[in-house]
Amino acid sequence: MVSEHEIFDRAKDAADHVISKCRAVPEVALILGSGLGGLADGIEDGCLIPYGDIPNFPSVTAIGHAGEMVAGRLDEKAIVAMKGRFHYYEGYTLRSVTFPIRVFQLMGIKTLILTNAAGAINQDFEQGDLMAIVDHINLIGDNPLIGPNEEELGPRFPDMTEAYSRRLIALADDVAGEQSATLRHGTYVAVAGPSFETPAEIEFMRRSGADAVGMSTAPEVIVARHAGIEVLGISCITNVIGASPVVTADEVLEVAGRSATELEGLVKGVIGRLS
Ligand code: HPA
Repeated sequence: MVSEHEIFDRAKDAADHVISKCRAVPEVALILGSGLGGLADGIEDGCLIPYGDIPNFPSVTAIGHAGEMVAGRLDEKAIVAMKGRFHYYEGYTLRSVTFPIRVFQLMGIKTLILTNAAGAINQDFEQGDLMAIVDHINLIGDNPLIGPNEEELGPRFPDMTEAYSRRLIALADDVAGEQSATLRHGTYVAVAGPSFETPAEIEFMRRSGADAVGMSTAPEVIVARHAGIEVLGISCITNVIGASPVVTADEVLEVAGRSATELEGLVKGVIGRLS
C-alpha cells in the first residue's frame, strides 16, 4: 500500500537536496529538450547537480540528454535548468516522467519554461523555426495524474483551459519582436513515440488543428498546472513533416543545436522580464 503522501514525501527529499546545492532559491525552472541542452552554458555561476545525486530521481537513458540540473543565474534571475528530461518511450511511467515537476513545485518554483524538438505538421513552418505552444493535444494515451490524488499537491480535477500562459506568450512575442526573431504560435500534439508518425496519423493530427508533434512536454505541463505553476512552452521545429524526406534522430539533434542560440536569446529575454 502506497502512502497517501508518497509523491509529496519523495519530491520533498529531492527538493531539499536541490535547494541545498543552490546559492539562491530559484523561482524559475527551465527544461531543455533534445539537442537544446547547450542553452544551460549561458547560465552564470552555474552549479551542476547530477540527477544521480538527487534522492528519488529517475536515471537517464535518452540520447542528446545529459542528465543534470544546473542552478545559477540567467539575466540576474536565480534559475534552475534541467539538461535532459525523461520520456514515456524510454519506459518510465508518466509519474516518473513528471517527478521533476513535483520537485520544482516543492522548491517553490512559480514559472516553468519548457523547450522541445518537434516536427511541423503546419506546412507554413520551416525547419529551425521557434513556436510558442498555445495549447496541446495529449495523444499519449495516459495521464500523469491517474491514481490517488495528493490534495496537498493540487486538485483532483485540474483546469486546463489556459495550460500555456497567455501572459508569458505575450512576453515571448515582445522579446522575439525586439530581437527580430520570428516566433510562430501553434498547437502541440504529444505522442508516446518512439516510432515517428504514419502519414495517416499526421493527416489525423492536421485535421484536428495541430501544428507540431513531439514526444514530450504535455505530461509535464499537466502536472505543472496541477501544481499551480505558470507555463511557457517553446518548440524548436527540427523537421517539416512531408517536406523533408525522412526525419532521423540525428537530424533532430543537429537542427535543434543550430536553433539553440536564438532560443537562448528568447528564453533569456523572457526571464529578464519576469516580475
Ligand atoms: N515527430 C515526433 N517527434 C519529433 C519529430 C517528429 O517529426 N521531430 C522532432 N521530434
